[in-house]
Amino acid sequence: MGDGGLDVARVRGLFPALADGFVHTDGPAGTLLPESVARAVAHAMRLPVANRGGVFPASGRAEAIVSAARSAVADLVGGTPAGVIFGANMTTLTYRIARTLARTWRPGDEVVVSRLDHDANIRPWLQLAEETGVLVRWAEVDIETGDLPAWQYDQLLTERTRLVAVTAASNAIGTRPDVAAIAARAHAVGALVYVDAVHAAPHVYLDRRALGADFLALSAYKWCGPHVGAVVADPALLGQMWPDKVLPASDRVPERFETGTPPFELLAGVPAAVDHLAALSADGTGSRRERLQTSMAAVAAYEGELFGWLDDALRAMRHVQVLGSPEDRTPTLSFTVANLAPRQVTAELSRRGICAWDGDYYARELFDALGVNEAGGAVRLGLAHYNTAEEVGYVIDAVSALRLR
Ligand SMILES: Cc1ncc(COP(=O)(O)O)c(C=O)c1O
Repeated sequence: MGDGGLDVARVRGLFPALADGFVHTDGPAGTLLPESVARAVAHAMRLPVANRGGVFPASGRAEAIVSAARSAVADLVGGTPAGVIFGANMTTLTYRIARTLARTWRPGDEVVVSRLDHDANIRPWLQLAEETGVLVRWAEVDIETGDLPAWQYDQLLTERTRLVAVTAASNAIGTRPDVAAIAARAHAVGALVYVDAVHAAPHVYLDRRALGADFLALSAYKWCGPHVGAVVADPALLGQMWPDKVLPASDRVPERFETGTPPFELLAGVPAAVDHLAALSADGTGSRRERLQTSMAAVAAYEGELFGWLDDALRAMRHVQVLGSPEDRTPTLSFTVANLAPRQVTAELSRRGICAWDGDYYARELFDALGVNEAGGAVRLGLAHYNTAEEVGYVIDAVSALRLR
């Protein structure tokens, strides 16, 4: 049994995909799925599930699936089900929210984006700013540490700032900025805050209000769920927004943000994924939200310990350079290897049965700032709650052996 009641042997037994024998350190690009999620999706495909809005049972089943998925995501981040919007993925939803908000922007208004973010929380805002004559300001990363200092927002925010887009955790180097401090500054000038919690969600207990996120964006495939995205907001705020929609579709919130027919079978897997997270610690009691708090604390402690070992070991290797050393972080790091391109490194790791990502993983602005893109980016290792100490030791040995090639 690990910290806080997380029994990794039991947890691994929940993942049929682990039978492939690989070491999956590619979680930041999408985690594996537990059997419970696969079953929930398959179950919804075997039953009669019609579209919503009919009077017969198969239609009621579709309605129930959507409603259970909204409740699950609300529990995951401390929102209300009526404020949970589903969509194809985080990127699509972010474009949708950006386009809708931009209708109220005026030339000379301002938005603030960060160099730390995944491009999905940068480009939509930049493109809409360009279309509407809005000025873009950049929050910069400390290139030594990889931190995104909150104090710089004092200079970046003005009375004209309409929106601040910032990540809750970097998918490339794991940095967890002080989002609450940034949001408090943004709210003081009346700006809205759009937080990308895609990478943070599988590692930390999220609380939308405590973070000060007017919008919190998620992607279920990063936390053991199916490929659907979600944005969580206050229903009252959503009620003031009018996205593009077809005439017969519902004007209600949050439905008015959801174009067309949703993937009911995938949404059926969402509560199973949240239940999976909530049950990771054997010590959890109470409501699902309360059990999530216990479980995510156990996940953070477990992953943190393994990650500390991995990080220290890689930093001690003379042929390896780990990018940044953020103060507060998820168990995700990027590194380069002397005389080897990132793609050569991941190919060699793959030969040894290790799944690792190379490139910029869409953290394009960050890697341009760090100067690594010209050489093919970096190599990413990200831990999840199903990784073991034995696997971390194996990965350390494999990276160490790259020197000998
Ligand atoms: C931090 C972060 N934000 C946003 C995204 C985009 O998410 P999606 O694939 O759901 O569009 C990703 C995907 O890698 C990510 O890691």
